Amino acid sequence: MTYENAIEAADYIRSRFNRQIETAVVLGSGLGAFGDELGNAVRIPYESIPHFARSTVEGHAGQLVLGEIGGVKVAVQQGRFHYYEGYEMPQVVFPIRVFGLLGAKNVILTNAAGSLRTSFKPGSLVLIRDHINMMGVNALRGPNDDRFGPRFPDMTAVYDRSLQSIAYEEANNIAAERGIAKFLYRGVYCALSGPTYETPSEIKVFRMLGADLVGMSTVPEAVAARHFGMRVLGISCVTNLGAGLSGGIIHHEEVMETGARVAEIFKDLLRRTIRRISES
Ligand code: HPA
Repeated sequence: MTYENAIEAADYIRSRFNRQIETAVVLGSGLGAFGDELGNAVRIPYESIPHFARSTVEGHAGQLVLGEIGGVKVAVQQGRFHYYEGYEMPQVVFPIRVFGLLGAKNVILTNAAGSLRTSFKPGSLVLIRDHINMMGVNALRGPNDDRFGPRFPDMTAVYDRSLQSIAYEEANNIAAERGIAKFLYRGVYCALSGPTYETPSEIKVFRMLGADLVGMSTVPEAVAARHFGMRVLGISCVTNLGAGLSGGIIHHEEVMETGARVAEIFKDLLRRTIRRISES
């Protein structure tokens, strides 16, 4: 996955949608519906894009949608590539680099996550304020191409503070307008390689380490986006309590169902946030 590969993919996408992308969005498990919200949309299946991998997980459509939200040009990844699917990290983060080459200034990473706090109930949304990488591998391992970014990128503020403030304000506006309770929190996301969910003992360890959420994605993409110099916003949809915290077991269907349940609010939050951040 060289720089030249990424240029080829970007050139192909430009041949189908020749407008400057402002914000890219990666949709997590069960959250794909936002891809249908774009105006003047062009849909490109991953298999037609040079060097893109394929999405193998149920709940991930496997296409790029390019279009507009309130006049803002966006690229939406309906389906991401996970490390647990067997892809190498350069494949997992390849779309992020292509978004960078397409001119995207902001990347919004969304995911389904397990909660380590009983106050973050299934259906809550959580702004990621920092992460802990427990995947056992770093997305930037290997030779560095300086055209993507520096060898030793700083990770002091991976998740942009001003984007978080905008999303937080918009969530409060949505709650007030709809007359619903607060649904957006802030937390630390701990990334594991998966594909197993965690054991109850592992969940205890991650809680002690300061994590509020667990999941199997997002961190590689956040690292690659910061490496490239893009602003990053991370939003988790809590689909279940971490293993051992609820008394039940965790299954993928539950993860998908919770995503569908919060779809309306989630789409509203994304729409408003995308519009506001293009002004910031
Ligand atoms: N653990 C890891 N990843 C997840 C979970 C979980 O409990 N729920 C959704 N994605």
